[in-house]
Amino acid sequence: MRRLCSLPFLLGLLSLFLTLLHPFATTTTSTSAIPLTTIATGIRLGIVRKPFVPDATVFREAPAFRNGETCGRPSGDAEHIHIAMTLDANYLRGTMAAVLSILQHSTCPENVVFHFLWVRHETEVYSNIKSTFPYLNFKVYRFDSSRVRGLISKSVRQALDQPLNYARVYLAEIIPAEVKRVIYLDSDLVMVDDVGKLWGVDLEDKVLAAPEYCHANFTNYFTEAFWADPELPKIFQGRDPCYFNTGVMVVDADRWRRGNYTQKVEEWMAVQKQKRIYRLGSLPPFLLVLAGNIKAVDHRWNQHGLGGDNIEGKCRSLHPGPISLLHWSGKGKPWLRLDSRKPCNVDHLWAPYDLYRSSKHSFEE
Ligand SMILES: *[C@@H]1O[C@H](CO)[C@@H](O)[C@H](O)[C@H]1NC(C)=O
Ligand SMILES: *[C@@H]1O[C@H](CO)[C@@H](O)[C@H](O)[C@H]1NC(C)=O
Repeated sequence: MRRLCSLPFLLGLLSLFLTLLHPFATTTTSTSAIPLTTIATGIRLGIVRKPFVPDATVFREAPAFRNGETCGRPSGDAEHIHIAMTLDANYLRGTMAAVLSILQHSTCPENVVFHFLWVRHETEVYSNIKSTFPYLNFKVYRFDSSRVRGLISKSVRQALDQPLNYARVYLAEIIPAEVKRVIYLDSDLVMVDDVGKLWGVDLEDKVLAAPEYCHANFTNYFTEAFWADPELPKIFQGRDPCYFNTGVMVVDADRWRRGNYTQKVEEWMAVQKQKRIYRLGSLPPFLLVLAGNIKAVDHRWNQHGLGGDNIEGKCRSLHPGPISLLHWSGKGKPWLRLDSRKPCNVDHLWAPYDLYRSSKHSFEE
């Protein structure tokens, strides 16, 4: 049984749909919902204000997820699982899917606390989260993007240069001091296993845990200018550096703060501004500071690269082995490829977590 939607509602959805498809669109075709002044401002400032449709609940409500018997009381003796993600209208559909997937596979979903970082307050984004997850335990924090503005250098892909991409560098300073451990997650992933297992990793004396990829050729993450420099490569002395992906990280927030890691990462971003020592965005400075000195966790916790490469976003298949988390890093995003009706095979693994209303219609029809 399907209810018929009103025309204004459908038009609202359509404009939102177009916005999600073309987050950087600056033309006026078919975007009557975007006031012209907004577009002009967007061009002048180099940013586009998100023309969200007011009062339209564009996501379905997720069910309430309850703790298993072994969990303890969420407000009493139970240990909280702290998860941090960024929040941005352009990626909201991904965020919603990620949150749903985490709750759905958790043994103790009521113990999970979300810490969302955003650049500015967006009422529609907030109210959409509230209405989609009425029972969610979450807090929202402002990430002051002026902290990184002067430190961002152009990378291979424009999306990587968004200030919010760098929020993870400041995460430990933004969330409350009483949060001693936090899992940082990108917004283009779904968890298909109990996050409690990842949460429980023994960090030993390390500040960060993530899957490590020692077969990847580490040389390629930095430019020739870096390797040719007489001083800079010395940072890796006494370490056996391996690539890790910064989209899934268990962080000892206490140790991060005490060790001034934010400052350490920032220092390398400043070096990058002077001499181009890498081509990617927020990832390489993490590698410079921490590669070869992290706690390695099983690869199952970040099957990344499902969005394809950074330039074309070509389809790729899954790597063999067990999977606990699927991550669409790279250019292609599953919601965009599904909407374009040219999805990759792996995108069908994301679709069950999509709470966006109009997508339900298109699959039913
Ligand atoms: C890694 O890449 C560099 C530069 O592309 C190359 O010179 C080197 O031989 C590669 N190393 C391995 C082990 O493949
Ligand atoms: C961290 O920075 C503060 C202030 O800049 C300094 O006093 C402290 O010694 C630093 N700690 C470490 C471990 O580098």
